[in-house]
Amino acid sequence: MRYIGNKEKLIPIIHKIMQKYINLDSNMSFFDVFAGSASVGKYFKKEGFKVASCDLMYFSYCLQRAYLGDCHLAFDNLKQCNKSLFNNAYLNVLEYLNELQGTNGFIYKNYAPSGSKKTGITRMYFSDSNAKKIDSIRIQIEKWRLDLRENEYYLLLATLIESVSLYANITGVYGAFCKQWDNRALKDFKLKPLNLIEGVSGESFCGDSFNILNNGKYYDILYLDPPYNHRQYAPNYHLLETIAKYDNPSIKGIAGLRDYATQKSRFCNVKTALNELEKIVNLKKYRYLILSYNSEGLMKKEEIDRILKNIGKVELEEIVYPRFKSQSKSHQRYIKEYVWVVERQTS
Ligand SMILES: C[S@@+](CC[C@H](N)C(=O)[O-])C[C@H]1O[C@@H](n2cnc3c(N)ncnc32)[C@H](O)[C@@H]1O
Repeated sequence: MRYIGNKEKLIPIIHKIMQKYINLDSNMSFFDVFAGSASVGKYFKKEGFKVASCDLMYFSYCLQRAYLGDCHLAFDNLKQCNKSLFNNAYLNVLEYLNELQGTNGFIYKNYAPSGSKKTGITRMYFSDSNAKKIDSIRIQIEKWRLDLRENEYYLLLATLIESVSLYANITGVYGAFCKQWDNRALKDFKLKPLNLIEGVSGESFCGDSFNILNNGKYYDILYLDPPYNHRQYAPNYHLLETIAKYDNPSIKGIAGLRDYATQKSRFCNVKTALNELEKIVNLKKYRYLILSYNSEGLMKKEEIDRILKNIGKVELEEIVYPRFKSQSKSHQRYIKEYVWVVERQTS
């Protein structure tokens, strides 16, 4: 999915850098600590690793559960709901959901023009009919919840979350909607099956990375990809969070933001980012630490170096890649990603 900081393109290069300094073996445990779209976890699951992951955002947790968890699905408990769902499980379930009648639910009432007009703010995140479709699918997934295994439930939520991104009337993030309809938003909404990954399934967590690592077990490899600028993820992806939780939140403003006080990342604040990184790297919960960080980030390269050098043996590489046009007002066409590989000294 389109996601700020998505490492899908860079991760094969980061993998090569890791191979240069670490005698990698797929028996090693791997923790993707800032999982976001789960693209890093997906890559390493394909490579044979058992991947654990976490993120502050619940919609990310749904993606992690679907891609990195057990994907052997049956949906056989839905047999009593509708016999025909059962033969070609996942695809049949999606087809059934795709054929549901739309409902005037929370998304229609707040994020589609005809519904939201009644609130006094006309929002154009989804066409009326697509918003109703999203509502009816989300409601049906919840109705089925008791008949679904957990992995099936998260697979359906992740399918909805990924599909929603293909129809949203936005330029990339949900902090604002377009004032004209993009062609993408005018197509009829359909759930698109996920490309699932065979492999060993790992654990996923939703919450603050430091707390999860601090209370969790030891991992051979930690991969850190924290936010690098002041843009908080929660307001930028608020609609994915609301669709994932479907908890009828109070919302405000033109964008219809939900409250995100508990989901603010300290990595998005220049005063707290370095201290947050230091807390994580000082945990004695790993052997190797990989940190990727944008060269234009809030934490300075020298400051990061200083912290990491206290931990153990440090290697640093740079990946230079073309800047997305929308990324900033800078005139430089290329941007750098720093990749640190640290082997923690055990004494
Ligand atoms: C740069 S993105 C990661 C992108 C990811 N590697 C990918 O390929 O999609 C940073 C992620 O860190 C999450 N995050 C920020 N602060 C966090 C924290 N304290 N604990 C857990 N996750 C956090 C954000 O929600 C966001 O998804």
